[in-house]
Amino acid sequence: MTSEQSRQECEECSHAIDELDPSSVCPDCGGLLEIIHPKRRDAAALVTRFRERRGAVRGADASGVWRYRELVLPSAIDSEIVTHPEGNTPLLARDRVAEWAGVERLLMKHEGHNPTGSFKDRGMTVAMTQARRIGARAVACASTGNTSASLAAYAAHAGLRALVFVPAGQVALGKLTQTLAYGARTLLVRGNFDACLTLARDASTALNIQLLNSINPFRLEGQKSIVFELLEQLEWDAPDWIALPAGALGNTSAFGKALREAFSLGLISRMPRLAAVQAEGASPFAQAFAANFERRIAVEPETLATAIRIGAPASWNRAVRAIRETNGVVCSVSDDDIMDAKAVIDSSGVGCEPASAASVAGVAKLRRGGVIAPSHRVVSVLTGHLLKDPGALVRYHQELDPPPPRANRPIEIEPRISEVERVLAGSL
Ligand code: F0G
Repeated sequence: MTSEQSRQECEECSHAIDELDPSSVCPDCGGLLEIIHPKRRDAAALVTRFRERRGAVRGADASGVWRYRELVLPSAIDSEIVTHPEGNTPLLARDRVAEWAGVERLLMKHEGHNPTGSFKDRGMTVAMTQARRIGARAVACASTGNTSASLAAYAAHAGLRALVFVPAGQVALGKLTQTLAYGARTLLVRGNFDACLTLARDASTALNIQLLNSINPFRLEGQKSIVFELLEQLEWDAPDWIALPAGALGNTSAFGKALREAFSLGLISRMPRLAAVQAEGASPFAQAFAANFERRIAVEPETLATAIRIGAPASWNRAVRAIRETNGVVCSVSDDDIMDAKAVIDSSGVGCEPASAASVAGVAKLRRGGVIAPSHRVVSVLTGHLLKDPGALVRYHQELDPPPPRANRPIEIEPRISEVERVLAGSL
């Protein structure tokens, strides 16, 4: 165990504050904060330590986040850590999905295997640990649904009051019901995610509540472990590409920071390229990328991938840095592309929520455009579980008329063996 302190530093004006300062943004200029850890040079020793911890069955080492604690929050001690545990998600290969995307060596890092069914648990364990360390009374977030479900679960575990702001009528059923079940006070705001975030930011400042959105830098430290874990699963032999869906851009920023740190420490010897994928109807970052990031863009968002229905991403500057430093790309895909990719992922037995499928749809599009080559090694991150959005599944398989090409409509029959025979013969 180590007690090395990290520090928080403003990304805009470089003002530094203590690791335990509760400010959610720079007290001087309002810029977003970044966690800077003490410098290390012990890559080989760390690789061994990470591997040794893989076998842990209890305590913080059993977590796929805290196993990398030296790179996440080195000063946290076991008794402070709020862990489910989380992480330890699989890296899956499915020929059918790889074939559909046109990339032979496609792997899917399935973050839907986390305790509340999305990657958010990785950031939440760290942000909730930090909230408890600084003595927060209550925690809050704005959310399209997954962050709220995760915050609700971890607040319940930590014994803290939780308040969530979600866009009324725009949250997938699985996520909303999780949030209620775990016991968070749930406010259905008549506005979109961007309006929810503005309200959550103002309310947390005015009412002295700790804000745990991904502008909170401790969230990003936890989310970095997605990258560390997938690199470790590849024995630190970095892939050519890592593709992920992008909304508020917290995860894109976390991936950039993880890769920067892994590379400068010597855990990997070359930098994978990031591919951030947005839904066409909510693609300000992709539009800005096409214009060389000359200006910040905001849009009125619309997509059936409600997780990434975000028009004014908060983590803009740090995500630009992530794309630039990894020689990355940003693209957008249509809702039809997303649902098609999702149907392929689902029917391969893997399954994911709509936003997650954008990462595979984006790979297919970049492959068609010649940006990704068929021989490239690609990891697509599936950010959320299939059951998060049952409404999207019911619409796709049962309600849409005409049915989409990959719809698997249920067949109602009389309770007779002859009916079953007709189904098997393909005449029903
Ligand atoms: N995939 C899923 C399933 C998500 O829930 C989110 C974000 C993203 C991708 C995009 O990540 O915002 O860091 O760029 N969900 C947030 C939420 C906004 O409130 O649950 P991002």
